[in-house]
Amino acid sequence: MPPINVLSKEISELIAAGEVIERPSSVIKELVENSIDSGATHITVEIKNGGATYMRVTDDGCGMSFDDVPKAFLRHATSKISAKEDLDNILTLGFRGEALASVAAVARVEIMTKQKGELYGTLYTIEGSAEKTHEQSGCPDGTTIIIRDLFYNVPARRKFMKKDVTEANAVSSILQKITMSHPDIAFRFIRDNRTEFNSSGDGELFSAVYAVYGRDFARDLIPVDYDYEGVHVGGYVIKPLYSKNNRAFQNFFVNGRYVRSRLCSAALENAYTNMIMTGKFPACILLIDLPPSTMDVNIHPTKAEVRFTNEKSVSDAVYFAVKNAMMKDGLIYEFELKPHADWTKAAPEQEEMIQQEFLFTPVDKIEETEKKLAEAPVPAYTAPKPVAEEKPYIADIKPSPAYDRPEPVQAAAPVYEKPVTVQETAPAAEQVAERAEVPEPVEVKEPEPPKAVEGFSYITQQAFAAAQPAKPAQPEAPKESVWTEKPKIRVIGEAFGLYIVAEVGDDTMIMIDKHAAHERIIFERLKSRNCRQYSQQLLTGVRVLLTGDEISALEANQELLADLGFAFDFSEKPCVVATAVPTFIMELEMEDIISEIANNLRMYSHDPQSHMLDDMLHTVACKSAIKGNDKNDIAELQSLAEQVYFDERIRHCPHGRPVMFTMTKSNISHQFKRT
Ligand SMILES: Nc1ncnc2c1ncn2[C@@H]1O[C@H](COP(=O)(O)OP(=O)(O)OP(=O)(O)O)[C@@H](O)[C@H]1O
Ligand SMILES: [Mg+2]
Repeated sequence: MPPINVLSKEISELIAAGEVIERPSSVIKELVENSIDSGATHITVEIKNGGATYMRVTDDGCGMSFDDVPKAFLRHATSKISAKEDLDNILTLGFRGEALASVAAVARVEIMTKQKGELYGTLYTIEGSAEKTHEQSGCPDGTTIIIRDLFYNVPARRKFMKKDVTEANAVSSILQKITMSHPDIAFRFIRDNRTEFNSSGDGELFSAVYAVYGRDFARDLIPVDYDYEGVHVGGYVIKPLYSKNNRAFQNFFVNGRYVRSRLCSAALENAYTNMIMTGKFPACILLIDLPPSTMDVNIHPTKAEVRFTNEKSVSDAVYFAVKNAMMKDGLIYEFELKPHADWTKAAPEQEEMIQQEFLFTPVDKIEETEKKLAEAPVPAYTAPKPVAEEKPYIADIKPSPAYDRPEPVQAAAPVYEKPVTVQETAPAAEQVAERAEVPEPVEVKEPEPPKAVEGFSYITQQAFAAAQPAKPAQPEAPKESVWTEKPKIRVIGEAFGLYIVAEVGDDTMIMIDKHAAHERIIFERLKSRNCRQYSQQLLTGVRVLLTGDEISALEANQELLADLGFAFDFSEKPCVVATAVPTFIMELEMEDIISEIANNLRMYSHDPQSHMLDDMLHTVACKSAIKGNDKNDIAELQSLAEQVYFDERIRHCPHGRPVMFTMTKSNISHQFKRT
């Protein structure tokens, strides 16, 4: 082994810089964060050639004094913290005093800065950590920093830079996120001499989102505003129908800082379970605010990840915030009546059209659009239905005898006259289980109707909720019903044997996909129903090897698991032995299902049911539901329409397809040019 050398300042600077500065977008992130910390209200970012040759950030913040400027470029020189304790209470985006030193190590840097009230500002240049100029200069209040020839002295790094357009897109993307995290700051992004977007800085998150992602995206958002155990979650989530193809539109900001968070993504996606199509992902702009002492930002070189002291609180806060937001909104979709295309213009590529629309929206248009959006007709019945009012066992729609599905056990009274108990309606799971020649469940007892779960009509795992006594501090107290007067629903008929067409009140028309709707109704019933009745004792238990954490999670949730139809023997650690399982999973890979449930519980999943188990329930529901082209009389259609309209859970089939669209009278009249 050769002797040990202490590396020269130059080399150690380059190594350290490598941690913070990977590409142009990381430079922009650091510079813009400095501008935000400086109290700026206007920030302009300009890049050329993807940032490789030129990047400029101008702000109107506090500026720096003549003597401070060279210090700013020293490693571990910062004005943001001074004592060890400050690390526990970070309120600024920067705190390490590393960014400018890192940038100056790998580029040619020029800075002009002036503090308010000073006569002169300072011009300072530094190249590859070597100071070139430090002089007084006339310049406006605030700071402008220009970075030229990134990685000019580190050819190896330069080689890793992607095409200009890719680098520019990365800059744009990071700036979009920062723009949304600070709606009170007006941002402008200039790319190769063209303004790509600008935000108004009016303090409204909606305006910032609109400026960044455009009108279509903004229109499909649901507002979120929720407090839970000291964590506030605000912002917007997308309606499930408009979910995206990847996670690129998932934006989490913790105390104003954009972070990547698997924990938050998982909580968000959990809240969308069974509402979005496979392969789709929810989009969000969620601002999570919590006491700085309950998180650690000092765990990642670019501060892009944070650690929470109480992960469960954060995960619960996100989950309940999103669930509540969706309940409030009612998730009623309006049928889209598209305006005629303007064929006089050459149609650019769709993607490009969207880009143009949102990237070049003038600021004043944002306000105009906001106003319009605010005035747009909102479905009259948006607040969540109080749980107490809920009738989960509302009369089931009677399937037509023409189909290969067993008749309900008892021929019930006319379907929509009297609520029918669970026993009276066809227990679909049992029927399917029978067909699959699965033995009868050992114990069949009348399930209890679901208890109110603290305001969440969505959350059907009451036992799970009960097993966590520290449940939502104040999860949305059930609100008084806004259904002061339920609108009258009048089924007009059926289109194509698939869609129910009905009038609601005086001013709305609805269309319901009858198969999708019925499928969801059955699915909800299966999920919310106490599955103990489907529990089947196993002659030979199923042994599953699990981690210690997973076993503890199962042990701590035995009541819940019993509700799901499972029983375990924990005497053979590190294995658990399933001694009873629900009948309808008997033919599935039980080991996989059990480990998935254990893992879900361990990860604080809010719906610990295995996806496979959910899939099974989808199948059961799908097979038992009425089909398109089934003959249904008007009374059945009426019953189904009422169940769907008044129950917020019935908005998507279990596969995520929408169940109902509305069309307002004014919209229809508009199409006929009556208004
Ligand atoms: N745009 C600016 N306006 C005013 N002061 C600035 C600006 N940019 C940097 N500074 C000053 O320079 C110092 C060093 O900045 P630098 O980004 O290197 O470190 P930091 O922001 O303190 O921490 P971090 O490395 O985590 O970003 C800052 O603490 C701040 O005092
Ligand atoms: Mg900084």
